[in-house]
Amino acid sequence: MRPNVVDLRPDSPKRLTLRVSVLDRCQYRCAYCRPGAVSPFFAREEWVSVDDYARLAPHFGAIGVNKVRFTGGEPLLRPDLPGVVRAFRDHIPDCHLALTTNGQLLDRKLDDLIEAGLTGATVHIDSLRPERYRALMGDGDVKLIVDALLRAQARLSEVKINTVMQRGKNVDEIGDFIALSRSTGIEVRFIELMNTGSAVQYTKETFFTGREIVDAVRTLAGATPVERRSPSDPAALWQTDDGVVFGIIASDTESFCAQCNRLRLTANGNLRGCLYQSAGIDLVEPLQRGSDDEIRARILAAVSAKRSYHPDVMPKGRVRFSMAQTGG
Ligand code: GTP
Ligand code: 5AD
Ligand code: SF4
Repeated sequence: MRPNVVDLRPDSPKRLTLRVSVLDRCQYRCAYCRPGAVSPFFAREEWVSVDDYARLAPHFGAIGVNKVRFTGGEPLLRPDLPGVVRAFRDHIPDCHLALTTNGQLLDRKLDDLIEAGLTGATVHIDSLRPERYRALMGDGDVKLIVDALLRAQARLSEVKINTVMQRGKNVDEIGDFIALSRSTGIEVRFIELMNTGSAVQYTKETFFTGREIVDAVRTLAGATPVERRSPSDPAALWQTDDGVVFGIIASDTESFCAQCNRLRLTANGNLRGCLYQSAGIDLVEPLQRGSDDEIRARILAAVSAKRSYHPDVMPKGRVRFSMAQTGG
């Protein structure tokens, strides 16, 4: 596969998405993710500050970023998250500002986030059954989290559910997720497990392919492919016979690198073009030295170096990485 080349000419229709991991910690311990297991957590002092996000944001706006997704770890654990959101809102006009979260703190933080400019939220829920939810994810109440998401749905332009499918653990709930989507209008995206090297044995034992997910929905409710909302979206879209649209994110079996428009910024200020890339370009040094030209040059360097490190493309270059650190 060709390296992914991003066209930065001013008239290019290609727009970029920036995924900002605001911290690498989480209060949950999903078996496939296990924050902190691959490498130690960043110290708080290493987190990019709100002031520094405000300095970086206009440069990202200038290269064509029109969507920022805040991730973690668990982004709602960062107390100054509204300030981070505001920094991008204030410096990139008309930018879609979304969050991917486990949702446990969503209700409590939503007012401040909306006031800061948040426009979308995706909540990660691996089971709708309270006991199973606690076993698979952590100590939260899934019913309260779904209720919080419904309240958020009324106030944000876009809400979604992510569910990571795990054989023998939750694939018997595919129909329940479709039913929830049918009754609420919230789009569900079924996610194929990615082997990040954080939980090799678990991933091997529970791996369930995107195709198997579609087959399961087809048996229950029919499944016809529909066009992706945007060519660079990770989710392929399908529709049931009665019109419920759902997404399949099959990172492993049907990788979507060729259309990728994503840049990733880790919580300690390292900019990467690919989820599977172990080290990118440091933005902290120019932030500290105070040179905006250098910041801009480094961001452009990261964009022109953007290419796929997916194991399909670089089978020998595979590195263990933490999804919580690289930003999911
Ligand atoms: P929207 O397009 O805004 O809906 O968000 P998204 O689907 O890009 O982001 P989300 O945080 O909901 O992530 C959904 C799944 O897609 C997660 O499992 C991510 O790890 C996966 N994903 C997101 N970006 C990439 C990527 O660049 N490469 C791969 N392989 N997977 C990705
Ligand atoms: N495979 C697939 N998806 C994962 N996520 C975290 N770890 C993995 C993995 N190993 C997902 C979470 C969240 C998103 C940001 O990444 O479910 O929705
Ligand atoms: Fe793009 Fe890298 Fe993600 Fe593939 S793994 S979709 S190249 S960012």
